Amino acid sequence: TESAPTIGKVTTKLTIAAGSEATIQRFVLYQQGNNVAELLQQSREQIAALQASSYQAQRQAHTAVLSEFWRGADMHIASASDNHSVSGEVKAEQNGVLAQPSSDTEKMLQGLRFSMYQLYQSAGRDGKSAIAAKGLSGPGYDGHYFWDTEIYIVPFFALVAPDIAKQLLMYRFNTLPQARQRAKQMSHDHGALFAWRTISGEECSAFFPASTAQYHINAAVAYAIRTYFRATHDWQFMCDYGLEMLAETARLWAQLGHFNSAREQQFCIDGVTGPDEYTAIVNNNFYTNYMAQQHLLFAVEIAEHLQAEQPQSYALLTEKIALQNDELEQWRIMAERMYLPFDEERNLHPQDDSFLQKAPWDFAQRDPQKTPLLLHYHPLVIYRYQVLKQADVILAMLLGDDDFSREQKLGNLAYYEPLTTHDSTLSSCIHSMLHAEVGNMAEAYEFFGDSARMDLDNLHHNTEYGVHTACMAGAWNSVVFGFLGLRLRDNGLHLHPRMPQQWSNIAQTIQFQGRSLHISATSEQLTVTLLSGEPIAVVCFSESKTLLPQSAVQWHLSRSEIN
Ligand code: IFM
Repeated sequence: TESAPTIGKVTTKLTIAAGSEATIQRFVLYQQGNNVAELLQQSREQIAALQASSYQAQRQAHTAVLSEFWRGADMHIASASDNHSVSGEVKAEQNGVLAQPSSDTEKMLQGLRFSMYQLYQSAGRDGKSAIAAKGLSGPGYDGHYFWDTEIYIVPFFALVAPDIAKQLLMYRFNTLPQARQRAKQMSHDHGALFAWRTISGEECSAFFPASTAQYHINAAVAYAIRTYFRATHDWQFMCDYGLEMLAETARLWAQLGHFNSAREQQFCIDGVTGPDEYTAIVNNNFYTNYMAQQHLLFAVEIAEHLQAEQPQSYALLTEKIALQNDELEQWRIMAERMYLPFDEERNLHPQDDSFLQKAPWDFAQRDPQKTPLLLHYHPLVIYRYQVLKQADVILAMLLGDDDFSREQKLGNLAYYEPLTTHDSTLSSCIHSMLHAEVGNMAEAYEFFGDSARMDLDNLHHNTEYGVHTACMAGAWNSVVFGFLGLRLRDNGLHLHPRMPQQWSNIAQTIQFQGRSLHISATSEQLTVTLLSGEPIAVVCFSESKTLLPQSAVQWHLSRSEIN
Protein backbone atom coordinates (compact mmCIF):
# COMPACT_ATOMS: atom_id res chain seq x y z
CA THR A 1 0.00 0.00 0.00
CA GLU A 2 1.30 3.45 -0.77
CA SER A 3 -0.24 6.81 -0.24
CA ALA A 4 -0.29 9.68 -2.72
CA PRO A 5 3.07 10.61 -4.27
CA THR A 6 5.40 11.67 -1.51
CA ILE A 7 8.72 13.46 -1.64
CA GLY A 8 11.54 12.26 0.54
CA LYS A 9 11.23 8.98 2.35
CA VAL A 10 8.74 6.60 0.84
CA THR A 11 7.68 3.48 2.68
CA THR A 12 6.21 0.76 0.59
CA LYS A 13 4.58 -2.08 2.43
CA LEU A 14 3.82 -5.22 0.50
CA THR A 15 2.11 -8.39 1.49
CA ILE A 16 2.97 -11.10 -0.98
CA ALA A 17 1.22 -14.41 -0.96
CA ALA A 18 3.50 -17.43 -1.17
CA GLY A 19 4.25 -18.30 -4.78
CA SER A 20 3.08 -14.97 -6.19
CA GLU A 21 5.09 -12.06 -7.58
CA ALA A 22 5.07 -8.37 -6.90
CA THR A 23 6.46 -5.61 -9.08
CA ILE A 24 7.57 -2.30 -7.63
CA GLN A 25 8.00 0.71 -9.85
CA ARG A 26 10.11 3.47 -8.41
CA PHE A 27 10.13 6.94 -9.93
CA VAL A 28 12.90 9.32 -8.99
CA LEU A 29 12.81 12.99 -9.87
CA TYR A 30 15.75 15.38 -9.77
CA GLN A 31 14.66 18.98 -9.49
CA GLN A 32 16.53 22.23 -9.16
CA GLY A 33 15.29 25.60 -8.04
CA ASN A 34 14.92 27.98 -5.16
CA ASN A 35 11.27 27.78 -4.28
CA VAL A 36 10.83 24.56 -2.32
CA ALA A 37 7.02 24.70 -2.19
CA GLU A 38 6.88 25.18 -5.95
CA LEU A 39 9.33 22.34 -6.52
CA LEU A 40 7.33 19.98 -4.32
CA GLN A 41 4.14 20.83 -6.16
CA GLN A 42 5.83 20.33 -9.57
CA SER A 43 7.33 17.05 -8.41
CA ARG A 44 3.95 15.77 -7.18
CA GLU A 45 2.39 16.57 -10.53
CA GLN A 46 5.22 14.96 -12.45
CA ILE A 47 5.16 11.82 -10.32
CA ALA A 48 1.41 11.56 -10.80
CA ALA A 49 1.90 11.83 -14.56
CA LEU A 50 4.67 9.21 -14.46
CA GLN A 51 2.51 6.85 -12.45
CA ALA A 52 -0.11 7.03 -15.14
CA SER A 53 2.28 5.45 -17.66
CA SER A 54 3.97 2.08 -17.60
CA TYR A 55 7.67 1.30 -17.27
CA GLN A 56 7.63 0.12 -20.90
CA ALA A 57 6.18 3.42 -22.07
CA GLN A 58 8.77 5.35 -20.04
CA ARG A 59 11.56 3.22 -21.45
CA GLN A 60 10.32 3.77 -24.99
CA ALA A 61 10.15 7.53 -24.51
CA HIS A 62 13.64 7.51 -22.99
CA THR A 63 15.04 5.43 -25.85
CA ALA A 64 13.45 7.71 -28.44
CA VAL A 65 15.09 10.79 -26.91
CA LEU A 66 18.49 9.13 -26.69
CA SER A 67 18.27 7.68 -30.20
CA GLU A 68 17.62 11.16 -31.51
CA PHE A 69 20.66 12.43 -29.62
CA TRP A 70 22.94 9.68 -30.95
CA ARG A 71 21.68 10.28 -34.51
CA GLY A 72 22.89 13.86 -34.31
CA ALA A 73 26.09 13.08 -32.44
CA ASP A 74 27.25 9.76 -33.84
CA MET A 75 30.92 9.01 -33.28
CA HIS A 76 33.01 6.32 -34.91
CA ILE A 77 36.68 5.43 -34.49
CA ALA A 78 38.66 2.72 -36.22
CA SER A 79 41.85 1.29 -34.82
CA ALA A 80 44.92 1.22 -37.08
CA SER A 81 46.32 -2.01 -35.69
CA ASP A 82 43.55 -4.46 -36.39
CA ASN A 83 41.65 -2.25 -38.78
CA HIS A 84 38.71 -3.11 -36.61
CA SER A 85 36.02 -0.55 -36.94
CA VAL A 86 34.33 0.57 -33.76
CA SER A 87 30.98 1.91 -34.75
CA GLY A 88 29.79 2.66 -31.29
CA GLU A 89 26.78 0.45 -31.91
CA VAL A 90 25.86 -1.28 -28.71
CA LYS A 91 27.49 -4.68 -29.01
CA ALA A 92 25.33 -7.76 -28.72
CA GLU A 93 24.12 -8.56 -25.25
CA GLN A 94 24.96 -11.97 -23.89
CA ASN A 95 22.64 -13.08 -21.14
CA GLY A 96 21.70 -9.47 -20.62
CA VAL A 97 25.33 -8.35 -20.17
CA LEU A 98 26.91 -5.99 -22.70
CA ALA A 99 30.08 -7.28 -24.34
CA GLN A 100 33.22 -5.65 -22.93
CA PRO A 101 35.41 -3.60 -25.28
CA SER A 102 38.52 -5.55 -26.18
CA SER A 103 40.98 -3.23 -27.94
CA ASP A 104 42.40 0.06 -26.61
CA THR A 105 40.47 1.89 -29.29
CA GLU A 106 37.22 0.27 -28.21
CA LYS A 107 37.96 1.24 -24.64
CA MET A 108 38.61 4.84 -25.66
CA LEU A 109 35.38 4.93 -27.61
CA GLN A 110 33.51 3.44 -24.69
CA GLY A 111 34.90 6.22 -22.50
CA LEU A 112 33.91 8.86 -25.05
CA ARG A 113 30.38 7.57 -25.43
CA PHE A 114 29.97 7.23 -21.68
CA SER A 115 31.09 10.85 -21.39
CA MET A 116 28.69 12.02 -24.10
CA TYR A 117 25.85 10.24 -22.36
CA GLN A 118 26.71 11.71 -18.96
CA LEU A 119 26.88 15.19 -20.44
CA TYR A 120 23.61 14.77 -22.28
CA GLN A 121 21.69 13.53 -19.28
CA SER A 122 23.18 16.05 -16.84
CA ALA A 123 22.64 19.28 -18.74
CA GLY A 124 19.84 21.64 -17.75
CA ARG A 125 17.23 22.26 -20.41
CA ASP A 126 15.03 24.90 -18.86
CA GLY A 127 17.29 27.95 -18.82
CA LYS A 128 17.17 27.85 -15.03
CA SER A 129 19.76 25.16 -14.49
CA ALA A 130 23.12 24.49 -16.14
CA ILE A 131 25.47 21.55 -15.76
CA ALA A 132 27.26 20.79 -12.53
CA ALA A 133 30.98 19.99 -12.37
CA LYS A 134 29.95 16.50 -11.28
CA GLY A 135 26.86 16.25 -13.45
CA LEU A 136 24.06 14.45 -11.64
CA SER A 137 26.35 11.72 -10.46
CA GLY A 138 27.70 12.69 -7.05
CA PRO A 139 27.95 15.20 -4.22
CA GLY A 140 31.34 16.67 -5.20
CA TYR A 141 31.45 20.48 -5.49
CA ASP A 142 27.93 20.60 -3.97
CA GLY A 143 26.28 20.44 -7.37
CA HIS A 144 27.84 23.79 -8.34
CA TYR A 145 28.33 25.14 -11.84
CA PHE A 146 31.70 26.59 -12.90
CA TRP A 147 33.35 27.98 -16.04
CA ASP A 148 33.61 24.29 -16.99
CA THR A 149 30.25 24.77 -18.71
CA GLU A 150 31.27 27.63 -20.94
CA ILE A 151 34.82 26.68 -21.95
CA TYR A 152 34.54 22.88 -22.11
CA ILE A 153 30.89 21.86 -22.36
CA VAL A 154 29.13 24.48 -24.49
CA PRO A 155 31.44 23.74 -27.48
CA PHE A 156 30.35 20.08 -27.28
CA PHE A 157 26.64 20.91 -27.17
CA ALA A 158 26.92 23.68 -29.75
CA LEU A 159 28.00 21.01 -32.24
CA VAL A 160 25.80 18.06 -31.28
CA ALA A 161 22.70 19.47 -29.56
CA PRO A 162 22.64 23.26 -30.08
CA ASP A 163 19.30 23.65 -28.29
CA ILE A 164 20.96 22.49 -25.10
CA ALA A 165 23.89 24.88 -25.65
CA LYS A 166 21.33 27.65 -25.93
CA GLN A 167 19.64 26.62 -22.68
CA LEU A 168 22.99 26.64 -20.88
CA LEU A 169 23.51 30.20 -22.07
CA MET A 170 19.93 31.10 -21.14
CA TYR A 171 20.80 30.00 -17.62
CA ARG A 172 23.46 32.75 -17.53
CA PHE A 173 21.02 35.23 -19.03
CA ASN A 174 18.42 34.38 -16.40
CA THR A 175 20.96 34.89 -13.65
CA LEU A 176 22.06 38.32 -14.94
CA PRO A 177 20.20 40.04 -12.06
CA GLN A 178 22.35 38.12 -9.55
CA ALA A 179 25.47 38.89 -11.63
CA ARG A 180 24.63 42.62 -11.55
CA GLN A 181 24.15 42.35 -7.83
CA ARG A 182 27.45 40.55 -7.48
CA ALA A 183 29.29 43.30 -9.37
CA LYS A 184 27.93 45.83 -6.88
CA GLN A 185 28.85 43.59 -3.96
CA MET A 186 32.39 43.52 -5.36
CA SER A 187 32.48 47.35 -5.40
CA HIS A 188 31.89 47.86 -9.12
CA ASP A 189 29.49 50.64 -10.09
CA HIS A 190 27.86 48.96 -13.02
CA GLY A 191 27.93 45.89 -15.20
CA ALA A 192 27.66 42.23 -14.26
CA LEU A 193 30.03 39.73 -12.69
CA PHE A 194 29.03 36.10 -13.03
CA ALA A 195 29.62 33.89 -10.03
CA TRP A 196 32.64 31.63 -10.11
CA ARG A 197 30.76 28.89 -8.32
CA THR A 198 26.98 28.81 -8.10
CA ILE A 199 23.62 27.21 -8.67
CA SER A 200 21.12 30.03 -8.28
CA GLY A 201 23.46 32.69 -9.69
CA GLU A 202 24.74 33.89 -6.32
CA GLU A 203 28.43 33.43 -5.56
CA CYS A 204 28.99 30.34 -3.38
CA SER A 205 32.78 30.33 -3.24
CA ALA A 206 34.55 30.25 0.08
CA PHE A 207 38.24 30.75 -0.69
CA PHE A 208 38.42 33.94 -2.76
CA PRO A 209 42.01 33.70 -4.10
CA ALA A 210 41.10 30.56 -6.08
CA SER A 211 37.52 31.52 -6.89
CA THR A 212 36.18 35.08 -6.82
CA ALA A 213 39.52 36.34 -8.16
CA GLN A 214 38.91 34.24 -11.29
CA TYR A 215 37.32 37.16 -13.11
CA HIS A 216 37.90 35.28 -16.35
CA ILE A 217 34.46 33.74 -15.76
CA ASN A 218 32.96 36.76 -17.57
CA ALA A 219 35.19 36.14 -20.57
CA ALA A 220 34.26 32.45 -20.49
CA VAL A 221 30.59 33.36 -20.84
CA ALA A 222 31.44 35.66 -23.76
CA TYR A 223 33.51 32.91 -25.37
CA ALA A 224 30.60 30.47 -25.06
CA ILE A 225 28.22 32.98 -26.63
CA ARG A 226 30.66 33.38 -29.53
CA THR A 227 31.01 29.62 -29.90
CA TYR A 228 27.24 29.16 -29.93
CA PHE A 229 26.78 32.01 -32.38
CA ARG A 230 29.44 30.72 -34.77
CA ALA A 231 27.98 27.20 -34.61
CA THR A 232 24.36 28.25 -35.13
CA HIS A 233 24.18 31.77 -36.54
CA ASP A 234 21.28 32.25 -34.14
CA TRP A 235 21.04 35.97 -34.62
CA GLN A 236 17.76 36.19 -32.71
CA PHE A 237 19.52 34.88 -29.63
CA MET A 238 22.18 37.54 -29.98
CA CYS A 239 19.55 40.29 -30.26
CA ASP A 240 17.36 39.07 -27.43
CA TYR A 241 19.97 37.86 -24.95
CA GLY A 242 23.55 37.58 -26.25
CA LEU A 243 24.45 41.24 -26.61
CA GLU A 244 22.97 42.17 -23.24
CA MET A 245 25.20 39.60 -21.54
CA LEU A 246 28.25 40.59 -23.61
CA ALA A 247 27.82 44.28 -22.81
CA GLU A 248 27.05 43.96 -19.13
CA THR A 249 30.04 41.68 -18.57
CA ALA A 250 32.37 43.78 -20.79
CA ARG A 251 31.71 46.73 -18.50
CA LEU A 252 33.55 44.94 -15.73
CA TRP A 253 36.89 44.97 -17.61
CA ALA A 254 36.76 48.74 -17.81
CA GLN A 255 36.54 48.87 -14.03
CA LEU A 256 39.07 46.11 -13.37
CA GLY A 257 41.87 47.31 -15.63
CA HIS A 258 43.77 50.54 -16.31
CA PHE A 259 46.00 52.14 -18.93
CA ASN A 260 49.35 51.70 -17.27
CA SER A 261 51.87 54.53 -17.66
CA ALA A 262 54.62 52.15 -16.48
CA ARG A 263 53.81 49.97 -19.50
CA GLU A 264 53.44 52.54 -22.26
CA GLN A 265 49.75 53.04 -21.56
CA GLN A 266 48.90 49.45 -22.33
CA PHE A 267 45.72 48.13 -20.72
CA CYS A 268 46.64 46.06 -17.66
CA ILE A 269 44.41 43.95 -15.42
CA ASP A 270 45.72 43.55 -11.89
CA GLY A 271 44.81 41.39 -8.92
CA VAL A 272 43.22 38.39 -10.63
CA THR A 273 43.61 34.63 -10.70
CA GLY A 274 43.78 32.81 -14.02
CA PRO A 275 42.67 29.23 -14.70
CA ASP A 276 45.78 27.84 -12.98
CA GLU A 277 44.72 27.64 -9.34
CA TYR A 278 48.29 27.06 -8.12
CA THR A 279 49.02 30.73 -8.81
CA ALA A 280 46.73 33.33 -7.29
CA ILE A 281 46.03 37.05 -7.30
CA VAL A 282 48.52 38.26 -9.84
CA ASN A 283 48.83 41.16 -12.25
CA ASN A 284 48.27 40.56 -15.96
CA ASN A 285 47.44 36.89 -16.09
CA PHE A 286 48.04 36.25 -19.79
CA TYR A 287 44.95 34.08 -20.25
CA THR A 288 42.67 36.62 -18.55
CA ASN A 289 44.04 39.54 -20.57
CA TYR A 290 43.75 37.66 -23.86
CA MET A 291 40.24 36.40 -23.18
CA ALA A 292 39.13 39.86 -21.99
CA GLN A 293 40.46 41.29 -25.24
CA GLN A 294 38.46 38.76 -27.29
CA HIS A 295 35.39 39.46 -25.16
CA LEU A 296 35.64 43.22 -25.77
CA LEU A 297 36.20 42.82 -29.51
CA PHE A 298 33.23 40.47 -29.86
CA ALA A 299 30.96 42.75 -27.82
CA VAL A 300 31.86 45.68 -30.10
CA GLU A 301 31.39 43.59 -33.26
CA ILE A 302 27.93 42.39 -32.25
CA ALA A 303 26.84 45.80 -30.98
CA GLU A 304 27.86 47.48 -34.23
CA HIS A 305 26.18 44.80 -36.28
CA LEU A 306 22.92 45.13 -34.37
CA GLN A 307 23.13 48.91 -34.55
CA ALA A 308 23.46 48.76 -38.34
CA GLU A 309 21.03 45.94 -39.09
CA GLN A 310 18.33 46.33 -36.44
CA PRO A 311 18.53 49.87 -35.11
CA GLN A 312 15.22 49.58 -33.24
CA SER A 313 16.28 46.49 -31.29
CA TYR A 314 19.61 48.16 -30.59
CA ALA A 315 17.89 51.30 -29.33
CA LEU A 316 15.72 49.22 -26.99
CA LEU A 317 18.73 47.46 -25.56
CA THR A 318 20.81 50.59 -25.12
CA GLU A 319 17.89 52.09 -23.24
CA LYS A 320 17.43 48.99 -21.10
CA ILE A 321 21.05 48.88 -19.95
CA ALA A 322 21.91 52.56 -20.50
CA LEU A 323 24.67 51.65 -22.96
CA GLN A 324 26.57 54.67 -24.27
CA ASN A 325 28.27 54.83 -27.67
CA ASP A 326 31.49 55.97 -26.06
CA GLU A 327 31.55 52.72 -24.09
CA LEU A 328 32.01 50.82 -27.37
CA GLU A 329 34.85 53.12 -28.30
CA GLN A 330 36.38 52.60 -24.86
CA TRP A 331 36.15 48.79 -25.24
CA ARG A 332 37.79 48.95 -28.65
CA ILE A 333 40.70 50.96 -27.29
CA MET A 334 41.06 48.67 -24.28
CA ALA A 335 41.20 45.66 -26.62
CA GLU A 336 43.70 47.30 -28.96
CA ARG A 337 45.99 48.24 -26.10
CA MET A 338 45.57 45.05 -24.08
CA TYR A 339 48.86 44.07 -22.45
CA LEU A 340 49.87 40.66 -23.88
CA PRO A 341 53.57 40.22 -23.24
CA PHE A 342 55.76 37.83 -25.25
CA ASP A 343 59.30 37.05 -24.15
CA GLU A 344 61.04 36.64 -27.51
CA GLU A 345 64.29 35.50 -26.03
CA ARG A 346 62.66 32.60 -24.22
CA ASN A 347 59.92 32.19 -26.85
CA LEU A 348 57.08 32.22 -24.34
CA HIS A 349 54.25 34.26 -22.91
CA PRO A 350 54.80 34.92 -19.20
CA GLN A 351 51.81 33.52 -17.31
CA ASP A 352 51.65 36.79 -15.37
CA ASP A 353 53.90 39.64 -14.24
CA SER A 354 55.55 37.68 -11.43
CA PHE A 355 55.44 34.06 -12.58
CA LEU A 356 58.87 33.93 -14.20
CA GLN A 357 60.50 35.54 -11.15
CA LYS A 358 59.59 32.62 -8.90
CA ALA A 359 61.62 29.49 -8.25
CA PRO A 360 60.49 26.47 -10.26
CA TRP A 361 58.84 23.74 -8.20
CA ASP A 362 61.44 21.09 -7.57
CA PHE A 363 59.69 17.95 -8.72
CA ALA A 364 62.84 15.86 -8.30
CA GLN A 365 63.29 16.71 -4.62
CA ARG A 366 59.66 16.61 -3.49
CA ASP A 367 57.82 13.52 -2.39
CA PRO A 368 56.13 12.14 -5.53
CA GLN A 369 53.44 10.59 -3.29
CA LYS A 370 52.27 14.06 -2.31
CA THR A 371 49.83 14.58 -5.15
CA PRO A 372 47.65 16.39 -5.84
CA LEU A 373 49.67 19.24 -4.39
CA LEU A 374 46.60 21.05 -3.04
CA LEU A 375 45.93 18.20 -0.61
CA HIS A 376 49.48 18.18 0.77
CA TYR A 377 50.80 21.76 0.81
CA HIS A 378 49.39 24.99 2.10
CA PRO A 379 48.28 27.20 -0.81
CA LEU A 380 50.80 29.88 0.20
CA VAL A 381 53.62 27.38 -0.32
CA ILE A 382 52.32 26.42 -3.74
CA TYR A 383 51.81 30.08 -4.75
CA ARG A 384 55.52 30.80 -4.23
CA TYR A 385 56.64 28.51 -7.04
CA GLN A 386 56.43 28.14 -10.77
CA VAL A 387 54.03 25.22 -10.75
CA LEU A 388 50.69 24.78 -12.49
CA LYS A 389 47.61 22.87 -11.52
CA GLN A 390 46.18 23.14 -15.03
CA ALA A 391 46.60 24.63 -18.48
CA ASP A 392 46.68 28.43 -18.42
CA VAL A 393 48.80 30.06 -21.15
CA ILE A 394 48.38 26.77 -23.04
CA LEU A 395 44.60 27.22 -22.90
CA ALA A 396 44.96 30.74 -24.29
CA MET A 397 47.11 29.31 -27.11
CA LEU A 398 44.38 26.81 -27.94
CA LEU A 399 41.35 29.10 -27.74
CA GLY A 400 43.32 31.84 -29.51
CA ASP A 401 43.46 29.63 -32.62
CA ASP A 402 45.34 31.48 -35.38
CA ASP A 403 45.95 34.58 -33.27
CA PHE A 404 49.09 32.73 -32.16
CA SER A 405 51.78 31.18 -34.35
CA ARG A 406 52.90 27.56 -34.27
CA GLU A 407 56.25 28.76 -32.87
CA GLN A 408 54.50 30.53 -30.00
CA LYS A 409 52.50 27.38 -29.26
CA LEU A 410 55.60 25.19 -29.35
CA GLY A 411 57.56 27.61 -27.16
CA ASN A 412 54.85 27.75 -24.52
CA LEU A 413 54.33 23.96 -24.53
CA ALA A 414 58.05 23.45 -24.04
CA TYR A 415 58.15 25.85 -21.10
CA TYR A 416 54.91 25.19 -19.24
CA GLU A 417 54.44 21.46 -19.74
CA PRO A 418 57.24 20.37 -17.37
CA LEU A 419 55.80 22.71 -14.72
CA THR A 420 52.23 21.42 -15.03
CA THR A 421 50.97 18.78 -12.61
CA HIS A 422 47.59 18.27 -14.34
CA ASP A 423 46.17 17.93 -10.82
CA SER A 424 42.96 19.29 -12.34
CA THR A 425 41.14 16.98 -14.74
CA LEU A 426 40.50 20.04 -16.90
CA SER A 427 44.12 20.13 -18.01
CA SER A 428 45.28 17.09 -20.00
CA CYS A 429 42.69 17.51 -22.76
CA ILE A 430 43.91 21.06 -23.42
CA HIS A 431 47.50 19.87 -23.81
CA SER A 432 46.24 17.08 -26.05
CA MET A 433 44.48 19.54 -28.37
CA LEU A 434 47.40 21.95 -28.59
CA HIS A 435 49.83 19.10 -29.29
CA ALA A 436 47.52 17.84 -32.04
CA GLU A 437 47.40 21.32 -33.54
CA VAL A 438 51.18 21.58 -33.76
CA GLY A 439 51.47 18.00 -35.05
CA ASN A 440 52.93 16.29 -31.94
CA MET A 441 50.65 13.30 -32.33
CA ALA A 442 52.25 10.94 -29.82
CA GLU A 443 51.88 13.56 -27.05
CA ALA A 444 48.38 14.45 -28.22
CA TYR A 445 47.30 10.83 -27.99
CA GLU A 446 48.89 10.29 -24.60
CA PHE A 447 47.22 13.34 -23.06
CA PHE A 448 43.93 12.33 -24.66
CA GLY A 449 44.25 8.96 -22.92
CA ASP A 450 44.32 10.75 -19.53
CA SER A 451 40.84 12.16 -20.16
CA ALA A 452 39.02 9.60 -22.28
CA ARG A 453 38.38 7.14 -19.44
CA MET A 454 38.91 9.41 -16.46
CA ASP A 455 35.86 8.20 -14.57
CA LEU A 456 35.44 4.70 -15.97
CA ASP A 457 38.93 3.92 -14.71
CA ASN A 458 38.82 6.35 -11.75
CA LEU A 459 42.17 7.81 -12.81
CA HIS A 460 42.11 10.61 -10.21
CA HIS A 461 40.84 8.30 -7.46
CA ASN A 462 37.88 10.53 -6.65
CA THR A 463 35.08 9.40 -8.92
CA GLU A 464 33.07 8.45 -5.83
CA TYR A 465 32.36 12.19 -5.49
CA GLY A 466 31.00 12.25 -9.02
CA VAL A 467 32.15 12.24 -12.62
CA HIS A 468 34.18 15.13 -14.07
CA THR A 469 31.96 16.69 -16.69
CA ALA A 470 34.48 19.25 -17.99
CA CYS A 471 36.99 16.47 -18.50
CA MET A 472 34.33 14.40 -20.25
CA ALA A 473 33.62 17.21 -22.67
CA GLY A 474 37.36 17.78 -22.94
CA ALA A 475 37.85 14.20 -24.11
CA TRP A 476 35.27 14.68 -26.87
CA ASN A 477 36.81 18.06 -27.70
CA SER A 478 40.21 16.34 -28.01
CA VAL A 479 38.85 14.16 -30.80
CA VAL A 480 36.89 16.87 -32.60
CA PHE A 481 38.94 20.05 -32.03
CA GLY A 482 42.17 18.09 -31.59
CA PHE A 483 42.35 15.17 -34.02
CA LEU A 484 39.78 16.45 -36.56
CA GLY A 485 41.16 19.96 -36.13
CA LEU A 486 37.70 21.54 -36.21
CA ARG A 487 37.63 25.31 -35.70
CA LEU A 488 34.62 27.62 -35.58
CA ARG A 489 35.83 30.84 -37.16
CA ASP A 490 33.87 33.94 -38.07
CA ASN A 491 34.04 32.88 -41.72
CA GLY A 492 32.72 29.36 -41.12
CA LEU A 493 33.74 25.81 -40.37
CA HIS A 494 37.40 24.80 -40.74
CA LEU A 495 38.90 21.32 -40.46
CA HIS A 496 42.47 20.13 -40.28
CA PRO A 497 42.56 16.42 -39.40
CA ARG A 498 45.65 14.89 -37.85
CA MET A 499 45.36 11.20 -37.11
CA PRO A 500 47.12 9.57 -34.18
CA GLN A 501 49.03 6.56 -35.43
CA GLN A 502 46.88 4.24 -33.30
CA TRP A 503 43.79 5.06 -35.37
CA SER A 504 42.89 4.75 -39.04
CA ASN A 505 39.57 6.59 -39.09
CA ILE A 506 37.58 9.10 -37.06
CA ALA A 507 33.99 9.98 -37.94
CA GLN A 508 31.67 12.37 -36.19
CA THR A 509 28.26 13.77 -37.03
CA ILE A 510 27.82 17.42 -36.10
CA GLN A 511 25.11 20.07 -36.29
CA PHE A 512 26.28 23.29 -37.91
CA GLN A 513 24.22 26.36 -38.72
CA GLY A 514 20.99 24.41 -39.13
CA ARG A 515 22.60 21.57 -41.05
CA SER A 516 23.66 18.08 -40.17
CA LEU A 517 27.16 17.13 -41.37
CA HIS A 518 29.01 13.84 -41.28
CA ILE A 519 32.79 14.21 -41.05
CA SER A 520 35.06 11.24 -41.71
CA ALA A 521 38.85 11.41 -41.72
CA THR A 522 41.60 8.92 -42.45
CA SER A 523 45.28 9.78 -42.61
CA GLU A 524 44.92 10.24 -46.38
CA GLN A 525 41.61 11.97 -46.85
CA LEU A 526 38.81 13.93 -45.31
CA THR A 527 35.21 13.36 -46.41
CA VAL A 528 32.37 15.65 -45.38
CA THR A 529 28.76 14.82 -46.26
CA LEU A 530 25.85 17.21 -45.90
CA LEU A 531 23.18 14.94 -44.39
CA SER A 532 20.51 17.61 -44.22
CA GLY A 533 20.09 21.32 -44.77
CA GLU A 534 21.09 23.90 -47.35
CA PRO A 535 24.43 23.85 -49.24
CA ILE A 536 27.31 25.30 -47.28
CA ALA A 537 31.06 25.81 -47.72
CA VAL A 538 33.60 24.09 -45.48
CA VAL A 539 37.32 24.86 -45.40
CA CYS A 540 39.99 22.20 -45.07
CA PHE A 541 43.70 23.16 -45.26
CA SER A 542 42.60 26.60 -46.45
CA GLU A 543 40.75 25.07 -49.41
CA SER A 544 37.05 25.90 -49.37
CA LYS A 545 34.58 23.48 -51.00
CA THR A 546 30.81 23.66 -51.14
CA LEU A 547 28.77 20.78 -49.75
CA LEU A 548 25.59 19.87 -51.62
CA PRO A 549 22.78 17.82 -50.06
CA GLN A 550 23.52 14.12 -49.67
CA SER A 551 26.79 14.25 -51.57
CA ALA A 552 30.22 13.60 -50.14
CA VAL A 553 33.04 16.10 -50.70
CA GLN A 554 36.63 15.02 -50.31
CA TRP A 555 39.97 16.62 -49.58
CA HIS A 556 43.14 14.62 -50.08
CA LEU A 557 45.75 15.13 -47.44
CA SER A 558 49.39 15.36 -48.36
CA ARG A 559 52.18 14.54 -45.88
CA SER A 560 53.12 18.19 -45.48
CA GLU A 561 49.57 19.13 -44.56
CA ILE A 562 49.28 16.36 -42.02
CA ASN A 563 52.43 17.36 -40.18
O1 IFM B 1 36.35 24.83 -12.53
C1 IFM B 1 37.26 23.87 -12.08
C2 IFM B 1 38.59 24.54 -11.83
O2 IFM B 1 39.12 25.11 -13.00
C3 IFM B 1 39.57 23.55 -11.27
N1 IFM B 1 39.06 22.96 -10.05
C4 IFM B 1 37.77 22.28 -10.28
C5 IFM B 1 36.73 23.20 -10.83
C6 IFM B 1 35.42 22.45 -11.09
O3 IFM B 1 35.60 21.45 -12.06
